[in-house]
Parts: sequence; C-alpha cells; structure tokens
Amino acid sequence: MDKSFFGVIGLGVMGKSLALNIAEKGFSLSVYNRKEEGESEIVDNFIHENENFKNLNGFTDLPSFVASLEQPRKILVMIKAGKAIDLVIEQLVPLLNKNDIIIDGGNSHYLDTKNRGDFLAEKGIQFIGCGISGGEDGARNGPSIMPGGSLSSYEEVAPVLEAIAAQNSFEKPCCVYIGPDGAGHFVKMVHNGMEYAEMQLLTEVVSLLSLSMNYDQIATLLTKWNQGDLSSYLLGITIEILQKKEGETYLLDIILDKAGNKGTGSWSSKAAFDLGVPSTMMSAAVFARYISAFKEKRIQLSERLSKNGQTKIKLDVSALKNAYRFARVINHHQGFDLMQQASDTYNWDLKICQIARIWTEGCIIKSKLMGASIGILRDLGELLEDKNIFYALTSSENDVVSVLQNSLENRVSTPCFYAAYDYWVAMTTKSLPANLIQAQRDFFGAHTYQRKDRAEDQFFHTDWT
Ligand code: 6PG
Repeated sequence: MDKSFFGVIGLGVMGKSLALNIAEKGFSLSVYNRKEEGESEIVDNFIHENENFKNLNGFTDLPSFVASLEQPRKILVMIKAGKAIDLVIEQLVPLLNKNDIIIDGGNSHYLDTKNRGDFLAEKGIQFIGCGISGGEDGARNGPSIMPGGSLSSYEEVAPVLEAIAAQNSFEKPCCVYIGPDGAGHFVKMVHNGMEYAEMQLLTEVVSLLSLSMNYDQIATLLTKWNQGDLSSYLLGITIEILQKKEGETYLLDIILDKAGNKGTGSWSSKAAFDLGVPSTMMSAAVFARYISAFKEKRIQLSERLSKNGQTKIKLDVSALKNAYRFARVINHHQGFDLMQQASDTYNWDLKICQIARIWTEGCIIKSKLMGASIGILRDLGELLEDKNIFYALTSSENDVVSVLQNSLENRVSTPCFYAAYDYWVAMTTKSLPANLIQAQRDFFGAHTYQRKDRAEDQFFHTDWT
C-alpha cells in the first residue's frame, strides 16, 4: 500500500468533515479512531460511506495508522481539548520519528499548547497548535485556519491547510502562519471571545426589538440590516433562527434561556486580565451567559418584583442600528487590541491585518466589518486610528445613549451595549478619577502614587493621617 501524505486522528463531527475536505482536495489520507465502546464502527462506517474516495484509508490500530504515513508524518489530531490530547501525544511519541509533525486542531488553551510544543521539541517532534473555525460546515467546505508553532513545520503542512481553507474574495486561502508557541490557539481563543460579544450583542438587539415587534417583524428588519455594512454570518443565522417554528410555535420560545459555554470566552477574558487589556465586551458577554445559567434564582427573584410601574418607552429603530454598528466596532477594536498586546508581550510578531484577512471567510465572526478592517489595521494598526471610524463613533454617541436609556427604562439587560459605550467614554476621557484610587491605595497601604507635576518614574507617599 502507498503511504498516505496526511493523517487525521479522531472522527468526531469536525474530524470527519476535515478528513473529507482533505480527501476531496486529492491528498492521500489515513484516518484513525479508537475502537472503544460506542466507537467500534466509526472507522468502518466512515470508509464505507465514503468509498468514492479511493485515497482514504481507515485504521483502529494506532501503530498501523502511524506506519501508513509518509515521513515526515503529518498528523492532525481532532479530539476533545484537555487531557485527551496529552494521552494521544503520549501514545504517539514512541511511534514517531524526528521531524514528524503533530497538529492539534481543537480549541486547546494556548499555554497548554506552548507546554506541549516544548515537551515534543525535546524529542525532536514538531507541534502545531492550530485554531480552526467554522463549525461542521466550515470544516467540510472551507474553514478559517490559525496555525501556530515553528514556521518550518507550518511550511510542511501548508499545502494541505491552505488547500482545505476557505478562500477569500481575492481567492487567497483563509489560513496563514500566525506565530510561534501557542499563538495560533491564542488567536482562535480571541476569535471566540469576540464571537461571544457578537452573539450577545445580537441577543440584546433582539430583546430590545421584542418589546414592540414579533419575531417575523424583527427578522424582516434584520434582513435589511444584513444587506448593508452590518452584514455578518452571525446576523444571518440569527434571522433564520428567529423564523424557525416547531409546529405553530417559534422554536426560540421553546429553547430554555440558559446559555452554555465550553470555556474559550472565559479563557479569552482571563488572558485580557492577565495582560492588563480592557477587553470589556467579551467579559460582559461571558458574565451574561453565566447569569443566564442561574435560571431558578432568576425565576425566584423576578417573582418578588412588583409588576406595576413598568413603562415601555418606544425604541428608535434607526438609533438601535447605529448603536449596534458602534458596539461592533468597539468589540472588533478590543479583540484586535488584545491580540496586539499579547503579540508585544510574548514577541509573537502577530500580523493583525492578516488575521482579519483570514477571518473574512470560513469563520463564525466573518462579516463586512472584518473585511473593512484589513486595510485600516494594515495602514494604521488599530481601528480607532481611522478618522472615519472615529467620526462615526463620535456621531453615534446620542443614539447609543438613547438605546441605553431605553434598556434602562424597560429593564432590558444589555451588558455588551453598556460595556461598549463605557469603554468608549472612558477611553476618550482625558482625566479619569483614577487619581482618587491612587490616593486611597496610598492612604491604606502606602502603595505610592505618581504626580502630575513630576516625572513619571518618581513615586510619592503621603502620611495621610
Ligand atoms: C468556531 C466556534 C467553535 C465553537 C466554540 C465556542 O469558531 O467554529 O468558535 O469553536 O462554537 O467551541 O463554543 P461555546 O459557545 O460552547 O463556548
């Protein structure tokens, strides 16, 4: 049997879809899945269902799978992030040779990826921590791919990754070498943090509109928004979700209002805390999910509220549209900024404009705004440096305020709109009350402060009492 060019471990939904995408692009491929209880038929069924692909070989025995690959071996691992990855790496190591390459395509934590890369490097094995976005459909038809690790190992696998990636409007692959260590997984993690905020903003838009419109009317309105500069994948699926019925009932009204998560949004927020970057919107979105999970408590407390006196002030739909545009720009700015700060701290030399480019297709946060961000990031480094964007944000302030007033008076929870507005106000305020914080810190803890009338490298303490 001829050796395969590439291997995939793990035939879950993502693994299967990526395997078919790779096979379809003409690469000879070996696939492996363990033969444990409940998984014994997976490989046979997969090969049987796809017998039209003559370049596909299935294995349930790891040594035979590894032996079927040409060297340097290139193995994409598509299994649940966490301990399972370490287990597979442990099993693979004795079977591999120097310069073989393991690619972790799951949502692993970037620090785990760095540790795994260091561990494997000692054994001469290359490791690529690779963010892959786009869900099942993306994996099958063209995901956005964010590979991190050594550039030389990326170059070995680039023919496959770039062939299976989504193509952007200039027919360039939505896959680019991101940087060393855990940079690929870091960038995917920030993608997910931005995804959380984009999703939360849409829930806030829909809940404000729901005060005066039904789902069909909201879908009609959002369809119009989706035809212009606000167009995005997430807005598109939201419109479809709003219209989905089970019998006579809207499915949305049947789905329990407790949001789940697999952790990447909170990792992203924690990274922002660790790096000292104010990524306020993604953390607001994570907390909104956490609050939603306290369903019983919410029911209990809501029943204690007096139902009287609840006003329904009318929402200005065009103000909401401007406020939504405003908040999305802030979310994108914060996400790009978090990656830039991480790049500076870890010396990753991230090309933020290239990251925006590979996020224009294939991924969950693809949008017109992402496309418009590329040139600005390339020429000016950040969105707020663009005069038109800055002017648009400034002139949307009244609309954002009116939306926030509406949400306050109608008791609609809109944490991401607040976070966006407050970030903007604080970031454009020359003097903040942080001087008082410094005085308080110095008062009770002698933490010292800097003075406006002295050099910044000088620190002072006052005997306050
Ligand atoms: C993607 C998605 C995908 C998934 C995440 C987030 O880019 O394809 O981000 O990775 O949706 O796991 O899931 P949670 O919402 O469950 O955290």
